[in-house]
Amino acid sequence: MAREMLGIDIGGSGIKGAPVDLSDGAFTRERFRIDTPRPAKPKPVAKVIARIVDHFGWDGPVGITYPGVVIDGVAMSAANVSKHWLGLDAASLFADVTGREITVLNDADAAGVAEMRLGAGRGRRGTVVVLTLGTGIGSALFTDGVLVPNTEFGHIQIDGKDAELRASAKARTEEGLGWSRWARRLSVYLAHLEALLSPSLIIVGGGVSRKSDRFLPLIEGVRAEIVPARLVNNAGIVGAAMAAAAAHPAETAEPAPPRAVRAAGRNGDRRPGKVEAAR
Ligand code: BGC
Repeated sequence: MAREMLGIDIGGSGIKGAPVDLSDGAFTRERFRIDTPRPAKPKPVAKVIARIVDHFGWDGPVGITYPGVVIDGVAMSAANVSKHWLGLDAASLFADVTGREITVLNDADAAGVAEMRLGAGRGRRGTVVVLTLGTGIGSALFTDGVLVPNTEFGHIQIDGKDAELRASAKARTEEGLGWSRWARRLSVYLAHLEALLSPSLIIVGGGVSRKSDRFLPLIEGVRAEIVPARLVNNAGIVGAAMAAAAAHPAETAEPAPPRAVRAAGRNGDRRPGKVEAAR
């Protein structure tokens, strides 16, 4: 049976999808992108999702990211998207338009899961924080490779202001901040996070992490190891696919191993639906 799953990432400017090989995170077909409708209300976004599913002729389950808190498929926050999402059962909406089984999770959680499984956090135990610096600041918290979902550390208050308004990539470009001024803000934010969580590793993602050499060396006052994300553009899609696979283990099961091997592998027992990144 194919170890493949379709992942779709809802971003501020584009909605992107690709079938993902779950063993290595590679796309098995070229990524397909459609501009995010403006305003990004639920119905127009759902239509785009349906077009992407149709484009790939995909008939299995689908994993989809959403840039806010998601609990049991329901969108519970909408910091950077239309308020029409609030309280909406996004998973059911997407299931209705696509006719597929849908798993929806927070965008940074998806990116984090992908980074932990295949990127900069691979094999890392202990407390790890993955941040996505973009329009907002997304966060994913892992303890021994297991995700604690919906952490929303981008909304920690610093000097009476939402952290993402001060330290996101958007704040840097909109306020025309140079790398060093922005790095100072980021340092304050990361030091604050460190005081709360004491992570051993902080992975910095989002498009700006491609230029990490411009700002990571300028970060001060943080003890934790800080590294750039490895999957950057694709992390959301890959993580969404992994979440759908975790929710539908039978659809992506590898051929059953011989009995003795199966018994030996019981420590690796994984509950359906649990998103676990480390192996
Ligand atoms: C949202 C998060 C999201 C992040 C990145 C924040 O404003 O509250 O849920 O992960 O932006 O999109």
